[in-house]
Amino acid sequence: MEWPGEFVSEPVVVTHAGGSYPVYVEPGILGQLNQRALELLPARRLAMIADTTVHQLYQTGRLGAVTWCGETLTVPPGEASKTRETWAHLTDGLLGRGYGRDSALIGLGGGVVGDLAGFVAATYMRGLPYLLVPTTLLAMVDASVGGKTAVNAPLGKNLIGAFHPPAGVLADPLALSTLPEREFRTGLAEAVKHALVADAPYFDWIETEVPAILRRDSEVIVRLIRRSVEIKAEVVSEDERETGRRAVLNAGHTVAHALERASHYQLAHGEAVALGLIVECEIGEQSGIAQPGLRTRVAALLDEFGLPVRVPHSIPLTALLDGMQLDKKNREGRIHLALARAIGSVHRTERWTTAVSPAQMGAALKAVGEA
Ligand SMILES: NC(=O)c1ccc[n+]([C@@H]2O[C@H](COP(=O)([O-])OP(=O)(O)OC[C@H]3O[C@@H](n4cnc5c(N)ncnc54)[C@H](O)[C@@H]3O)[C@@H](O)[C@H]2O)c1
Ligand SMILES: [Zn+2]
Repeated sequence: MEWPGEFVSEPVVVTHAGGSYPVYVEPGILGQLNQRALELLPARRLAMIADTTVHQLYQTGRLGAVTWCGETLTVPPGEASKTRETWAHLTDGLLGRGYGRDSALIGLGGGVVGDLAGFVAATYMRGLPYLLVPTTLLAMVDASVGGKTAVNAPLGKNLIGAFHPPAGVLADPLALSTLPEREFRTGLAEAVKHALVADAPYFDWIETEVPAILRRDSEVIVRLIRRSVEIKAEVVSEDERETGRRAVLNAGHTVAHALERASHYQLAHGEAVALGLIVECEIGEQSGIAQPGLRTRVAALLDEFGLPVRVPHSIPLTALLDGMQLDKKNREGRIHLALARAIGSVHRTERWTTAVSPAQMGAALKAVGEA
């Protein structure tokens, strides 16, 4: 199938209130990490933050040709590290090593390290510049673009955080060669989300390229990352602080965050997003907002990617509804969702979200639950 856009190797540029930053999607760019860091973060003492898995991969030369000769602070891999405790450990580590206001950070890894390193950068000495070097598909297509940084609290995901855009993003698709299958597939959930909320031809293209995507065909993967980054960059450049259209990028996420928490983080973020998209499409269809058949088409694609499409019955409805009480889009105590109306388009309201009752949520969760 013809690609709907031109293929170019220029960086995608994201603009925000304080300026702009480039997002490079370039095979082999990790080999230029030192040089790019010097260009994007001039005259700074640099510290890298990575999880131990990624740190080991690059130390043993398996993460592309990463060249990095500075200091690295590590955290254990996984969502359990995205906490205030780890934030305290990292900031104490930087203080203990004498990092001052003339420093800058590099977050090398998946979305967990990106969100964490970004939050450390947002808060350390009232804010340091930082670079993101995403090494998972999920972080390349989504998490490293947009300047949202956060840690989780026991009551929910991403509840403590800050908007703090990076100085640049270096995405090297070659780094994905070591990514385990499950992690690769979770990233595809966010790409499907981008297509669903903003770009019908992109959705069609993903559907026809499923086998090449799952083979990790390098040209197809570069195009997928690039298109997702373009969509996210366009939306966040227009609405950095999420007062309007940026909420469309939260499609699937109200339900996803509640599922992650209720599953005690046994569901990966992208797996929860897959389920969240399906549940939210079902709510849209049941309330007459979405075109009939939308949920079936979205679920079929996510299923082809090996993502979960049925909410496990081990997760009680009450835990999910509780989990949605602290969603950041809630207003006057009511759950608000960004609901797709058709492939490529979100139901437009003043804030791009629609109030949903617990009964509507319950009915949709039941329809998408395991038999
Ligand atoms: N800030 C945002 O806008 C935003 C957007 C989407 C998601 N997120 C956040 O991102 C997080 C999920 O990110 P994730 O899915 O990347 O998870 P992750 O960061 O936990 O990475 C997944 C696993 O892959 C390993 N890994 C990373 N790169 C690897 C590589 N190249 N080869 C082999 N293993 C590798 C990691 O060590 C980890 O075990 C969630 O916390 C989510 O809330 C943030
Ligand atoms: Zn997400």
